Amino acid sequence: MNTPRSHYDIASQVFHWLTAMAVLTAFILGPEHFGRAMRQGMDPATHWDIVLHESLGLLAMALSVLRLVWWVLRPAKPRFDMPDWMQKASQATHGLLWVLLLAVPLSALLALGGKGHPLTLLGGLRIDDMPWITHSALVELTDWGDMHSLLGDAILWLSGLHAVAAIFHHFVLKDGVLRSMLPARKKAN
Ligand code: HEM
Ligand code: HEM
Repeated sequence: MNTPRSHYDIASQVFHWLTAMAVLTAFILGPEHFGRAMRQGMDPATHWDIVLHESLGLLAMALSVLRLVWWVLRPAKPRFDMPDWMQKASQATHGLLWVLLLAVPLSALLALGGKGHPLTLLGGLRIDDMPWITHSALVELTDWGDMHSLLGDAILWLSGLHAVAAIFHHFVLKDGVLRSMLPARKKAN
């Protein structure tokens, strides 16, 4: 019989921490009110913080897509004994984080494409027209700039709550939940 795992596999750990860093940095470096500045005709390529925000955000999306593929293929994740409500709360939080990891960048693409603003990325990469978005019926549904800002705030609040829960597991419940997302220590002989 296989012994239950105490740690996530290394690929899941790398995906988790790279994505967390990309999302947090994109948020922190997200310049305030730059949607309005773009609507007033400012070229986003002339602002390094906008270029970095968009590049890190798209990196987070690309990592999340690859991570979802790995999620299907990977070895079983570690399991811990905890009350049913805690198990369900953790699953619901992870599920919502997954949705937001894709919805935040997608809403940004709808905001840019819908208003005809360019996508500006590191290395001078630039996409001026996204006709498949501009002419999509989806752009009419809502103000995607406002929606993106709202979802961007939501992912930060939820991941903050998720981090507090992980720290609570570590220091109060003293189980192995937080350690499961960190590299396993080598056992002494
Ligand atoms: C997952 C990572 C991301 C997070 C956490 C995030 C977060 C945010 C937040 C909180 C704002 C509001 C800033 C303010 O006005 O005070 C914002 C605005 C914006 N972000 Fe992101 N963002 C992410 C990814 C992206 C990506 C991938 C793009 C481009 C493809 C992008 C483009 C924009 C644009 C254009 C605005 C201005 C929206 C408007 O006011 O019309 N963001 N972002
Ligand atoms: C933007 C920031 C973050 C996002 C989007 C995020 C997202 C996620 C997701 C989707 C999972 C499920 C992983 C899987 O099934 O492969 C997860 C697990 C986990 N995260 Fe995060 N996370 C973030 C930040 C953090 C931080 C700052 C900590 C620690 C302080 C942390 C600790 C953990 C732990 C311990 C697990 C495993 C929990 C379990 O299996 O019950 N995360 N995270």
